[in-house]
Parts: sequence; structure tokens; C-alpha cells
Amino acid sequence: MSRCSLFYISLLVLVLRYSVESCVQRHVQAQVPEKLQAGYVVSKVNLDHCGFRQLYLVSNDPDFAVQTDGTILTADVITVPDDGKSFWVLVQDQRGHKWKVNHKVLQRAKRRWSPLPFNIRENDKGPFPKDVERIASDSSVNYTIKYSIEGPGVTTTPINLFSVDSINGMLRVNFAVDREEYPQFIFTARAFDRYTNQEKDLPLPITVNVQDENDNAPQFSSPLIFSVEEQSNPGTVVGQVNATDRDEPNTPHTSIRYSLLNGTDLFAINYDSGLITTRTGTLDRETQDRYFVRVEIKDMGGAPNGLSNQGLASIFLTDINDNPPTFKQSLYTAQVKENQANVLVLRIPVDDKDLKGTPNWKAVYEITKGNESGNFLIRTDPATNEGLLYVAKPLDREKQELMKLELMARNEAPLVRSSSSWKKVPIELTVTNEDEGPEFSAPILRLKVKENVPNGTLIGTYTAIDPETKSSKGIKYYKVTDPGSWINVMETTGDLKVANTIDRESPLVYNNTYNITVKAVDESQKTGTGTVLILIEDVNDNVPIIPKPDLVLCSRDGQRSSILVNAVDYDESPYSGPFTFELSKESEGKWKIKDPKPGTSVVLEQVVDMPNGVYKVPLLVKDLQGVGEEQIVSVHVCECVKEGECAAQRISSRLGVWAVLAMLLALLLLLLLCLLFVLVCSTKGEKLRMTDEYDGTGGMLLKSNTEAPGEEVKDALLVTPGSGIDGGGAMEHQTVVGAAGGALGQQAIHAGSMYQGGTQGYMTNQSMYSTGQYGGGFYGNSSYNKFSDMSILDTWRTNELYLDNKLVYFGEEEDGRFAADLLKSYGYEGVGSPAGSVGCCSVLSNQDSLDFLDSLGPKFRTLADVCMSKTERGEQ
Ligand SMILES: *[C@@H]1O[C@H](CO)[C@@H](O)[C@H](O)[C@H]1NC(C)=O
Ligand SMILES: *[C@@H]1O[C@H](CO)[C@@H](O)[C@H](O)[C@H]1NC(C)=O
Ligand SMILES: *[C@@H]1O[C@H](CO)[C@@H](O)[C@H](O)[C@H]1NC(C)=O
Ligand SMILES: *[C@@H]1O[C@H](CO)[C@@H](O)[C@H](O)[C@H]1NC(C)=O
Ligand SMILES: *[C@@H]1O[C@H](CO)[C@@H](O)[C@H](O)[C@H]1NC(C)=O
Ligand SMILES: *[C@@H]1O[C@H](CO)[C@@H](O)[C@H](O)[C@H]1NC(C)=O
Ligand SMILES: *[C@@H]1O[C@H](CO)[C@@H](O)[C@H](O)[C@H]1NC(C)=O
Repeated sequence: MSRCSLFYISLLVLVLRYSVESCVQRHVQAQVPEKLQAGYVVSKVNLDHCGFRQLYLVSNDPDFAVQTDGTILTADVITVPDDGKSFWVLVQDQRGHKWKVNHKVLQRAKRRWSPLPFNIRENDKGPFPKDVERIASDSSVNYTIKYSIEGPGVTTTPINLFSVDSINGMLRVNFAVDREEYPQFIFTARAFDRYTNQEKDLPLPITVNVQDENDNAPQFSSPLIFSVEEQSNPGTVVGQVNATDRDEPNTPHTSIRYSLLNGTDLFAINYDSGLITTRTGTLDRETQDRYFVRVEIKDMGGAPNGLSNQGLASIFLTDINDNPPTFKQSLYTAQVKENQANVLVLRIPVDDKDLKGTPNWKAVYEITKGNESGNFLIRTDPATNEGLLYVAKPLDREKQELMKLELMARNEAPLVRSSSSWKKVPIELTVTNEDEGPEFSAPILRLKVKENVPNGTLIGTYTAIDPETKSSKGIKYYKVTDPGSWINVMETTGDLKVANTIDRESPLVYNNTYNITVKAVDESQKTGTGTVLILIEDVNDNVPIIPKPDLVLCSRDGQRSSILVNAVDYDESPYSGPFTFELSKESEGKWKIKDPKPGTSVVLEQVVDMPNGVYKVPLLVKDLQGVGEEQIVSVHVCECVKEGECAAQRISSRLGVWAVLAMLLALLLLLLLCLLFVLVCSTKGEKLRMTDEYDGTGGMLLKSNTEAPGEEVKDALLVTPGSGIDGGGAMEHQTVVGAAGGALGQQAIHAGSMYQGGTQGYMTNQSMYSTGQYGGGFYGNSSYNKFSDMSILDTWRTNELYLDNKLVYFGEEEDGRFAADLLKSYGYEGVGSPAGSVGCCSVLSNQDSLDFLDSLGPKFRTLADVCMSKTERGEQ
């Protein structure tokens, strides 16, 4: 310990560079033992701040050598003198070319103590405390110094690892330390004057490195679970084994070597990286799906003294589709009933060694032969992977008894790295017989038939056969549907005969086709059905008609109007349009056809002006075959409010029924009043004269030899309330006709019934009345046409005329006829009457003498009373 005295070596580092800044310390101090062996590391010039520049370092003292990393070593065995040694190191930049040695810098440099890092070993066995190194301060030359240390490893954990001899500065370590826990300590040493306790030097940081010992074995740092595809080529990467070692990095203590302890025939591992690869291409998942191999990791580069660890790596093989599905049998057979659809026929099991449930395992089936007619379907049972063979379309034993199929099974995934291919298997299906019902020769029979063929005509035969016996024997035929009952099916022969008129124009016929369905029944009551489509050929059995023959022609002042007439023919071409139109002779000079040419319509034109009214125009319409009949077009010429609508109709409908009826009533009353007035005037004149003659004596008296009412009186009786029966009834009827004719429809009936209340008792022509009352029946008879388009006023005028005529007629009638029918008034001329009888017996026999006229007396007065109206008498 005493031998190990300390000396100072002053190092001067001159940096002669053209740059202003220096990257190295200018002053270095080192403490070294008195005697130094050659190669002793004295210190190190810190070049950390010099970057990557290439530096050239040289020492001016031959005793010391400088390495390129800045380490200063002794070049020879030297003894350091008491006052130390000074030398300098020249650091030259690669491009430096200016050199200058400055001695003054040496003299002025501030001294500073900075020892090299000390080293201690981890896990040291002791004995403790153990000297590490002595520290010393320059100031110990001039003062009695007391040393102390503080910091990590001294005053902080691990506390008291280090201690210092305060007098001689010996640094000691007190217990073992683990490098993996504390790789380095940096604490502070201070120098005080022992007497004054004044700090005599700057605090010196002291670094103690803990030297590594290989005390940690490598560890696996990741789970040893790997996977690789089966059948992989040799050299395929399986995975990497990762390991760590807590010892000092980049030393042999942490240099790990990887190795496999078994399974080396199948796998290999890279010694340095731990990468596992395959060694063989024969790994088969279907044989063995996982391998376990022992992996060893060893530090010290695998040297025998290295520490090691072992682990069991699991290597899983992943599936590839290297196995096709295989059939368990070399032939599959089954029986299938004919005439059955959508039935499962066969379950075909397959084997697939690949991983269950994956596309490498799931089977897809294909019928490679035998499905030419599309009878079969195949599906995969997702649970069992079986092939399910279905009959999709019924099979027919009579056609083919043995069905031969070929089935191929594939996987959803394609085959990989496999020499095998998809497997095929034959299937034989025996179609078993079934007793079938009769079958019609064709499911649909088409027959062409002319319409209107006579009843009983044979139009065809529709027969069926038994598919087993190929014979029609014993089969009976029945009609199932025949909407028009047009066809009869002969029960035993299947003959189809016309039962009723076949009409192409019937609503039961669509697109010229009429369908019936027929049933065939064999002896065992099995049935089969068939359809007969009867294509009906057209016959010219319809003439062209004018569907709307009632037309309105608007008359215009000074202009002739025209009107369009349309025609249709329910037959088909060529029995239909274009039509030709011809006017009959009677229309000549009244109507003409404008621009006559064949078509479906024609324009009727007025030739002369004609008054408003309804005109019947006979029009001959012929189809393309020249077949046609005369059609009557009824043209109503009128003033129009708008095109196609007569003005009168508008008025009547605007006024309403009641207004019209009120008008009619008023007119009727007026007429009655007038007639009455006329009558009264005519009778009164005569009577006045008679009265005058009676009052004023000696007036003229006309000779009269009858006591029956006179001509005038008789006429007047027709319209007095008691006797106006026939006229009222007739007028009643006419009114109703007029109302209906004015297109009042339903309301006209009300009008009729209203009148009924007032006139019922007087009706003489009951049947006519009812006709008027019930509009429905009324439209059909000819009087409808006669009055249909007349206005109310026209009707009224007609009534007036009619009444006049009737009155004249009655006037002309023989007296004898009415003598019995009509009421007659007679005065009382019984016994005691001063006038005596005016009857036949009182007729004077003696006509020669006219003396009695001078004294007529009460007898004449009675006679005069008969002729005089009550009112007149009242007035008197
Ligand atoms: C010791 O004292 C002398 C004389 O005062 C002085 O020259 C020298 O530099 C001092 N040494 C140190 C290391 O302070
Ligand atoms: C092992 O380390 C490598 C590289 O550091 C890394 O890529 C790989 O994922 C690690 N393996 C495992 C299993 O963690
Ligand atoms: C290697 O050895 C382990 C047991 O240590 C064993 O489980 C494993 O199967 C072996 N692997 C091979 C490929 O023999
Ligand atoms: C058989 O043919 C039918 C009709 O072509 C078709 O729909 C069906 O898919 C086919 N079946 C198979 C298994 O190929
Ligand atoms: C056919 O018979 C039906 C009634 O059975 C009869 O109405 C029809 O007019 C007849 N048709 C012919 C063209 O004889
Ligand atoms: C009508 O019948 C004819 C032949 O008979 C056919 O070509 C056409 O498609 C049918 N039209 C309709 C609407 O059924
Ligand atoms: C008649 O049968 C045919 C074919 O089945 C069908 O297209 C047509 O609509 C049927 N006609 C009637 C009126 O039922």
C-alpha cells in the first residue's frame, strides 16, 4: 500500500487547428503508481466531441504513446518522478496544415484532478472492505487535506457500498454488488483542509464501473410456438427463436448460440439468429400435425463454460388441400320410382383427409355424365360432406330403365402440391315402375274449326293410352271444362263433336281460341287430363252495323251541316272493314255521302236546308265481301248549344220538369177558358134575345120543333167539367208522351203519376195511359220515335190541334150516337106545372096555328131554363 505512491503526470494537449473551437480538453491530469509497466493505460483523451473526423494524435514524450482512440499508454517501463511529468499530445485534423507550439499555454493552464474511471468486479467474494484506488488532490502539497465522498453508492442506495480513508484518500468497496442492478456509480470526492475545514480543491466526480461477470443465462423472450404449411419445401422459414441475456451487451457473456437438441432431421436452426427452417419437404399434416423440438440457447458463443437454457418449441403444420375427396365404394346403385320429382335418391359418402370444415375438406359434386336431360340435381350435405343425389325432373321407366351416371367430387379449394386428381365414381339408378294413369296423345291438342259449323259435326278425336300397355282399351273420356258447352266428348271414342253454335265473336273466345279440358279415365280409375285448343276460323256471319245510330246534327243559318257515321263489323278481316256506304233512293235530294270511299266511317251531308226535326236516313253498309244490310240512322237536326247537343234539350233540362209541367197546366187552363168563353158567348146571345123577347113583348122567335139541346149546346157540353172526359184523357196521354220525348226520362214518369191522381176516374184508354206512365216499356214502341225529339211546345201545339180535331169530329158525329152517350137536362114538367110537359107528347099537333106564341107563359120558361147556365141565372 505504501509502495503505491501517487504521482502526477501533467498532460498538455495542444490542439493546433485552424478552427477556433477545440473538440478536446486542453488539460488532463492522471494519477499513476510510481512505477509503470510498459503498456499501462495512463489516461484517455476524450475525443467524443470530435465527431467522425480522422484525427492524427502524437505525443512529444517517447515514454508515452497515443492510440487513435485517444488512449495514452506507457511505451516503456518508466518511473514517475515526485513532481510528476509533463508532456503534450498533438492532435491534428486531417486537413490541418498550420502548426504552432505555445508553451505559455502550459504555464497558465488551470490544474484540475480527474482520475480515470475505477473498476470493481460484480459478485466479488471479498474479503471486504476492499481497497479500490487512492485519490489525491494537488492541494495536499500545501495543506493537510481531509477527503470525503458523497452520492450514489455512498449516501444513496446502495448506501455505504463505498467509503474513503479521509487521511490517505484510499477508496474502498464494502460489499459485493450486482452489475445487472448497478452497472456504474458516479459519486463526488471532496478535499478539505483538515484544520480549517476549508475546501481546498474543486469537487471531483469519480466514476466506478462494475465489471461484468457471466452470471446470467440467456432467456427465451417469446413463446416457442410456430406453424408452417405441410409439404413445405426444405428451407421454408418456420419461425424465429428470440432470446435475451441480462449480462453486459456486446460481450461474450451475451453472445447466444441457438441449437436444436432433437428433431434435427426435420428442422434446422440458425446458430446466430435462432431462425428455424424446415429440412425436409415431407412434413404431412395428415400423418402428424404438430412437432415438438428442444431448443437450447447458450451464451459465451456456445462455449462449454457458457450458461444455457432449453425450451420446447411447438411447430404446428397447417393444412393445404393435398387430399381430394375419395369415394368409399367403386359403384353406387339405387332404385328410384318413376314420375317422382324432387326426391332424394342416394347419399354418397366421401372421405377427405384434409382439415374438416375447411374448403380443403368441403366437397362439391358434379354429375359428369348422365344429366344430359337435366333430370338430376346434386347437393352437398354441409354436416357430413355427403353428396345428395336428387331427381329433379321425373324419370320415365318406359323410356329408360337404367340410368347410368358418373359423379365427380371436388373440393371448394383447388388441389395443392398433390399428385392426385379429383375422383369419379359411377352410379346406376334403376327406375322402378309405377301404375300410371292414361296419357293423352299430346298434352295440348290444337284443332281448327270454322265457326257456326252445324251441330253434331266431328271436329277431331282426342285419345289417350295407358303408358304401360300402350293401348287405349277401356279408357273413357269426359269433359272437364267447356265454358260454352260447345263441344261434346264421346265417352268411349274420344271423338269431339259440336254441340252448340261455335261463335268466334263470343266473349268466351280469347284470341280466336276456345279451350276445353278433357279427362281420360282407365279401368283402375286412374286419370289423365288434356287440353284441346280450338282455333276458331272466322266466317262472315256478322254484317256491319252502326253502333250509334242516333245522331245530332246542328243546323246553322244558311249552311249545310254534315255528320260522321261510324260502322263496325265484329268479324275479322277480310270479313270486316273497310266498308262501303250507300244511301237509298228516298234520301236523294236530301242527303248525300261526302267523298265516298271505303272505310269504317262516312260523312253524311245535308243537300237542302231542312227544318229542325228527326230524320230517318236509311244507309246501306257493306263489308269487304259486299255483305251488309240497310241500317237506319236517325238524325236529329236542331239548334245546338254546343256540338252534338240540341238547344231544346238544354232548356227543358234547365227549367226542370215542374216548370215545364206548370207551363203546360197554365196553357191547358187557358185553352179551357177560351173554349168556355166561346161557348158562353154563343149561347148567351141567343138567350138574351129570348129573354128580351120574353120581357119585351112581340120579339122574333125562331121556329123550333125539337126540345133536344141545340147544336151549339151539344158542342159546349164536350168541354164542360162534367163532359170533358175524353179530351182530358187524350191530352193527358199526349202530355206524358211529350215529357218523355223531351228526354226527361225518369221525371216524366213522375209527371205521369201526378196527373194520374187528378184524372184517374176519367180515364177511358187505360192501356195507353199505362204505356205513358212506365217509361221503360215506352221507349220500345214506335210512338217513342215519333215524339222522341219534339220539344214540349211542339207537343203542346200538337195537343191543341188534336183537341180541335176531336171537337170538330164530335161536332160532325151523328146526333143519334151522342143522344145515348151524353147527359141531357130536362126541366120538371110534371103534373101541376103551369107550363105542362115539354116532352115528345107535348109537341103540338096543330102546327098550323101559331097563336100560342102570343102567350107562351111558364111552359116556355122552363125550356129556357134548361138552356141557361146557372151562373147566368145567378147574375139575374
Ligand atoms: C504551494 O505553495 C507554493 C508557494 O506558496 C506555490 O508556489 C504552489 O503553487 C502551491 N502549490 C499548489 C498546488 O497550490
Ligand atoms: C423475435 O425477434 C424478431 C426480431 O427482433 C422479431 O421480428 C420477432 O417477431 C420476434 N419473434 C417473436 C416470436 O416474438
Ligand atoms: C424432442 O424431445 C422432446 C422431449 O424432450 C419430445 O417431446 C419431442 O417429441 C422430441 N422431438 C422429436 C422431433 O423427437
Ligand atoms: C342437371 O341438369 C339440369 C338442367 O340442365 C341442371 O339444372 C342441374 O344443375 C344439373 N345437375 C347437375 C348436378 O349438374
Ligand atoms: C245447336 O243446338 C242448340 C241447342 O242444342 C241450338 O240452340 C242451336 O241453334 C243449334 N245450332 C245449329 C247450328 O243447329
Ligand atoms: C294469339 O294466337 C296466335 C296464334 O294462334 C299467337 O301467335 C299469339 O301470340 C296469340 N296472342 C296472344 C295475346 O295470346
Ligand atoms: C287456353 O289454353 C292456353 C294454353 O294452355 C292458354 O294460354 C289460354 O290462356 C287458355 N285460354 C283460356 C280462355 O282459358
